[in-house]
Amino acid sequence: MSHREGLRTDSIYFTLNGAPFRILGGSIHYFRVPRPYWRDRLLKLKACGLNTLTTYVPWNLHEPEKGVYCFSEQLDLEAYIHLAAELGLWVILRPGPYICAELDLGGLPSWLLRDKNMKLRTTYLGFTTAVNSYFDKLIPRVAHLQFKRGGPIIAVQVENEYGSYAKDEQYLMFVKEALLSRGITELLLTCDNREGLKCGGLDVITLLMHLYVSGCELFVLQPQKPLLVMEYWCGWFDVWGEPHHVFSAQVLKELLDRGVSINLYMFHGGTSFGFMNGAVDLGSYKSQINSYDYDAPLSESGDYTNKYHLLKNLLRSFQSKLLFSSLKFLILFLGCSLPHLPAVQGKRVYEPVVLSEHISLWENICPVICFQPFSSDDPVNMEDLPVNHNSGQSYGYTLYETTIYRGGALNSRNHVRDRALVFIDKHFSGVLDYRTQEIVLPQSERILSLLVENCGRVNYGPALDKQRKGLVGDITLNHIPLKKFTMYSLDMTHNFINRLQSLKWKSTNQNPLYPAFFRGSLVVEGQPRDTFIKLPGWRKGVVIVNGQNLGRHWSVGPQDTLYLPGPWLKSGDNQLIVFEEHRAEGKVHFAENPQHGKITDVSRQLFCTLL
Ligand code: GLA
Repeated sequence: MSHREGLRTDSIYFTLNGAPFRILGGSIHYFRVPRPYWRDRLLKLKACGLNTLTTYVPWNLHEPEKGVYCFSEQLDLEAYIHLAAELGLWVILRPGPYICAELDLGGLPSWLLRDKNMKLRTTYLGFTTAVNSYFDKLIPRVAHLQFKRGGPIIAVQVENEYGSYAKDEQYLMFVKEALLSRGITELLLTCDNREGLKCGGLDVITLLMHLYVSGCELFVLQPQKPLLVMEYWCGWFDVWGEPHHVFSAQVLKELLDRGVSINLYMFHGGTSFGFMNGAVDLGSYKSQINSYDYDAPLSESGDYTNKYHLLKNLLRSFQSKLLFSSLKFLILFLGCSLPHLPAVQGKRVYEPVVLSEHISLWENICPVICFQPFSSDDPVNMEDLPVNHNSGQSYGYTLYETTIYRGGALNSRNHVRDRALVFIDKHFSGVLDYRTQEIVLPQSERILSLLVENCGRVNYGPALDKQRKGLVGDITLNHIPLKKFTMYSLDMTHNFINRLQSLKWKSTNQNPLYPAFFRGSLVVEGQPRDTFIKLPGWRKGVVIVNGQNLGRHWSVGPQDTLYLPGPWLKSGDNQLIVFEEHRAEGKVHFAENPQHGKITDVSRQLFCTLL
């Protein structure tokens, strides 16, 4: 292969193979889009007028248990990058190890927290050893896909917004070396928000930033270098219990006119399926929803939005302007005319499905579905449970049981992470969470059960090391710590669901004891299509279709529908399981469009420095 010169930053514009190059990027995360739709979404990105795909790489999904790696099917990163190349897109890779991205623990595996002294995102030996083992598996899969070796990867980001964490001066250099020593040779970048810009960069590495650094500041920061807004936020994420965020600000044209390169975060958000979501805690804990629609140009199910068309028109006029302007700004585009828009995917509104069978959590099923219970004098947090080949429990629920000999004040001492349903002899007695830390229990000798849910580990901020879940310390009854716990891990994974299937289910005629699993069948005639699940009358729980955990339903909103991709259905019978904590209506409904709930426009808050 002839010598290829990668992305360079020697002057005020990027060059690629020696020619001026403008990055017009968009983020799509392969792990948030069903694999059969990768091609459709990348084609839509290209047809919009963008030339670069950016993606994070989530360590927690690629190494779910220590030393167990997954790089196939939905997580086949190499196939994703190959596809981008096939469609004529460049790639900017953001391999972390920490990525934020509204993922549980910012994409770090929770088993790291089994080490009591763990210092995430530092050069603490326990962390760097784990990063090295992971990068040994990851980097060889992508190194040969770099530009200079004939592939589409033109740049690689070092960590993510480290400047706003900045706990260890040596750490960024460690990550940089970890990439270089494994054969990464393309341009390295750092990416920071405003508060982190001062400490997040590395010499010789180009600084990137988010859009809420104002236009003027961008130019002052790097006067002699090309500028790239690595995260031009075209929307925002949502948390349970608050309105859906929309984003209407338009400053993209100004940036393009000023010669800035951009990456739209997100161009298409997709879905944080299952228990992938993270949480925010800026004073109070808020769990993120499953939909990662992000008010992006392509909707959660990949549909064109008004924003998509506005963007496409803007990029089209921008391209024509470039073609007629001086040669100096001629851009190395991958084909100058935009490809045709891929067809819109049809949706289906299936007939409501009655979930005619159920099984209550209290029918002594835990010893079967959770293999063996674990007993200990003190409650043990999820990560430290002896499950998953000693990687602990990452996600889902853990049931803690003990016997109490009197009633009185049950106090969580703020050790519940994040929400516990409290039962006395299988009867619901209340919820303990961050707000409610004490409830009163009736007198007499009883079995006390706490079903504790990990609602998502915080993905941003200084408290990453403190994200252990379950019961993270003593809880007290009348000020005396409770002892002698039996614990069951309910992680709702494939294996868990398989074991659940083998039990004897009952007909749903009589009202079950909650929490309970409900089961029914969706019969699809002909080709399955995308749809949205709706659960009016249900309160809170988890939805599983053909063994795939789609995510949570929760009547507090804003998300009122769960995206069910057509490729995850088949012609004929499809099994629906709904786990419900409090109250079931008995039927699953379907809708053609998502219902995002009440809306709030966040442009003003995020763009205050620009307005
Ligand atoms: C930051 C992070 C991203 C994402 C956005 C908010 O910019 O770098 O990973 O978390 O915030 O969506």
